[in-house]
This record gives sequence, C-alpha cells and structure tokens, in this order.
Amino acid sequence: MRIHKLLHKTLTIVTVASATILLNGCELAPDNAWSPQKFHSSAAVQLLKNTTADDNKSSKNAAVNTQETYQATAQKLQLQQRIITNPKANIAARFFYIPGAHTINDTITAYLRTTISPHSSSYKPQALPHGATTQQPGCIAGSTDWDAHTIVTDPRTAPPAAGGLAIVCDITELTPEHTKIQLRAVQVRSGTTSTDTHISIVFNSQTHTIVGGFSAAAAQEFWRAAIDILRREAGSLSLAPVTDAPASQLQTVQKALDDAEFHSDHITVRLPAGIAAPELAAVGITATTDPTTFAIPYQTAQRWMETAPHTAQESAKNNTISAKHNVPTVCDLLPCVALTYDDGPGGYTTQLLDSLAEAQVSTTFFVIGPLVQQYPDVIKRANAEGHEFGSHTLHHHDLTELPLAEAKHEVLAGKQIIEELTGKPVKHFRPPYGAINETIVKEVGLAAILWNVDTNDWRKPGKEALIKHAVETPRAGSIILFHDIHPDSVAVAPDVISGLKKRGFQFVTVSELLDNNLQGIIYDR
Ligand code: NI
Repeated sequence: MRIHKLLHKTLTIVTVASATILLNGCELAPDNAWSPQKFHSSAAVQLLKNTTADDNKSSKNAAVNTQETYQATAQKLQLQQRIITNPKANIAARFFYIPGAHTINDTITAYLRTTISPHSSSYKPQALPHGATTQQPGCIAGSTDWDAHTIVTDPRTAPPAAGGLAIVCDITELTPEHTKIQLRAVQVRSGTTSTDTHISIVFNSQTHTIVGGFSAAAAQEFWRAAIDILRREAGSLSLAPVTDAPASQLQTVQKALDDAEFHSDHITVRLPAGIAAPELAAVGITATTDPTTFAIPYQTAQRWMETAPHTAQESAKNNTISAKHNVPTVCDLLPCVALTYDDGPGGYTTQLLDSLAEAQVSTTFFVIGPLVQQYPDVIKRANAEGHEFGSHTLHHHDLTELPLAEAKHEVLAGKQIIEELTGKPVKHFRPPYGAINETIVKEVGLAAILWNVDTNDWRKPGKEALIKHAVETPRAGSIILFHDIHPDSVAVAPDVISGLKKRGFQFVTVSELLDNNLQGIIYDR
C-alpha cells in the first residue's frame, strides 16, 4: 500500500494532467484498479504495441482511400491521370502527373522508367486498337496496399497477360498541408513474386515541395522518447534524461522515420528488434527482441520534417490550358500523336481552338505568313494556349520548283512573321505539298516536318470518313495532317480527339513528339 502510494506520487509529479489526483492523493482510498500513469514525453510519442511480422504487413494499410476521396484529391490537385496498357511488353501502369510540380513529376517518371526498362529492354509505347475496351486512367484507391497477387489479377490493375508487370498508384491527403503519393510495381511469375518495389513521396500540397524526410535532430528526439518509453515498459522509474543514440543505432532510427506510415492525425514509426541503449541495459534489456511501433502526433512529426532544399517551387497555374502544358510528355512511355493543321489561320481556326481548349490538347499549326498577319489575334491566342507553330511559307509554292534562294526566303520570311508575333522561336517548317529535298532543308537550316497520316481532308470525304481515318490509322509517334481552313476538319476535331484518347494516345506538339530532335526531313514521303 505504502509502496503504491509512493509510486503514485512519484509518477504523478511528471504529468500535469494528474495534478488534481496529486492534490487528493494522500487521502484517497486504495484503488484496486490502479495502474501507473502512462508517461507522456515532451514529444508526445506513444508506444503502440509490439509488432509481429504480420502486423508489419497490415501496418502498410494505414492511409486507405476510397475511390471517391481519391477522385476528390485528384480534382483538387488537377491531376493529369495516365494509364499504360501495353500488351506487347505485357505491362499495365497507372500513374498521374501534377501540373507544375516538376520535381514530383520527374520522380514519378524516373520510377516508371527504371521499373519498366529491366522488364522490357525494348519497350515501345503501344496504342490500343480502335474499339478496344479502355479503362479510366489514374489510380485505383488503395491498390498500392493490396497483396501482390491481387495487384496482378484484379482486372483494374492486372497486366495484359499472366506474368506481366503491374504498376499501381495512390494519392492520399495526410493533412490539409501534406499529401502522399505511392507507386508500386509488381510482377508475379509462376506464382512467385519476382518484382515488388515501391516509392512514396510526401509533399506540401500548396507549394508542391517534397518533404525531404526527418532531420538528424528529429531522429535523436525520437530516440530519446522511444528509449524512455521502452525503459518504463520494462519497469524503470528513472527520470534521468536518455543519452543520445550511438551512430550505429541512429542510422536505424533514421531509416525507421523515413519508412514512417502516415495516418490521418499521426504517423507510426516501427523500430526493428535489436535496439540497444544503456538505459535499457539498466533494466536488463541488452537489445530489444521484437520490433516496436510508436505513434507520433502529426503536429510533432511535421515539426521534425525537413523540406528538401533542392526542390523546384513552381506551382500550378489556374488556367487549365497552362496546366496541361505543365506536365511532362513522356512519348517513350505513352503512345503519343501529333495533330497538325496546315494552310491557316482562317475563319474556322477560333472554333478549332475552342475544341482544343475543351479537350486540353495541344497541336502544331503550320501557318502561311500573310494569313498570320491577317489573323494576329488568333495566332496570339493559340500561342498563349500552348500550341506550336511552324512555317508553311509565304505563298504556298512548291519549293522544289523555286530557285534555292527563293525557297529559303519563302520559309524563313514566314518564320520571322510568326516569331515577331509570338516571341517564340520557330523550329521547323512544312513544305507545301510535302515537296522537299535535302538541298532545300540544308539551305533553310530547319527540319522539314511531313506526316504519316494524311486525312486527305481537302478532298472533302465527309465527316464520318474523316473521323474513321484519323482515329483508326495512327500508331505511336504518328503525325496527322489536317487543314483548319476546311469546316469539316474543324468540326470533327472533338470526335477525332476523343477517339484517339480512347486508344490511349497523348496529344503532343511536333517538337514534343520528336523530343526536340528536329533535323532533316521527318516522315519523308
Ligand atoms: Ni499546305
């Protein structure tokens, strides 16, 4: 009894919350249900439980989304959602980009590339055949926490055939400030998981800065709190401060913090077995025999987190067109196609720009110099909305029938008119009628961009035929030729775009398609 009371008194001194009990402590009747007060360290770290291997597995299921919360986050962050379905390489991948978040997007791209290349060294983007069943792009909520077998068999995430590679993603709002991205790549061959890797990126949702992990000071602070809890669990009543972690243990602690699981209002950190400290030795523990999991309130964890100093700070613009242009084009991963429009601008170009804006698609316009001067506002708008321009000469003559100097002037004078209006360099041209030779290209000093899908829209084949040809013919890397001076070509744009999107195509400018390797004659006829 005396001992109990003494114990009670000693323990309550360290907790403010117990102040009233302390005041009345001496007069209290013995309480059989009494147990020592839980120690609260300044860091508010709490021991959750001793974890077994199974617990560790399920602790990955921490921040589980519903598809609704995922979509809400996707909308809030204006995620550009992506999907790869590649039967040839036997790969299915789901991911997304965040407009303007360059460092995050580059990290996602790098993970995809390093994951896909060992799986398929000759990987080439592949478009789905016309009429194929397509799935919504982006993540399946919770899929990064599924077991490997489910990831490769669930119809939403499975690769095209057994034994293929599945890449899944998820994004979770941890707090109003912090969001976590997860990507996971899984391959199961003959019933055995041959690949299972993942990355997590925690970032500030407002600044898009990646949270660069926990500081060394945080690791020490966590160490002191954790060791204090462990010694108390073992019966120690010591109030002596815990000494700093030795270098060997500090590394373990740092890694445990880096692997922390984020929950709605706290993070959990799991220390492996083998934790040793003089304070534990004092109560007879040479080293912990089981892993231990600790809960840290988010407020504390946030204070411990460092912002990566090297991170790009560019944030997304509100303009959706700009947003589209603030994400990477990865034509080595996704099937890309370039829509090109010749002979304008003209009276229908504004209507086309409306459709392109609605669909968030960027194209390349090969424009005629004097028409650029006639429709400067159309060109300025197209420029502001991220479309690209190439010279289609001044007078639309067959360049191969002109003296070399005149051919050169036709292209470069057109180029200059565009540049004066847009302030952006013109990097290529399209020879009228596709009539070109190496001599002219060399003289002009710009790449000549031809095409490999000719819609023959100038023959006026009718809208249905135009849509069918433009949607069914392209393959990854195609350049499609239209003319925005024909009303049908402009009218079918929404259907052409949605048809190509269903086949999995990403729309890029010619420069993006060629990754700025602009030289010679592209798609010589
Ligand atoms: Ni033309």
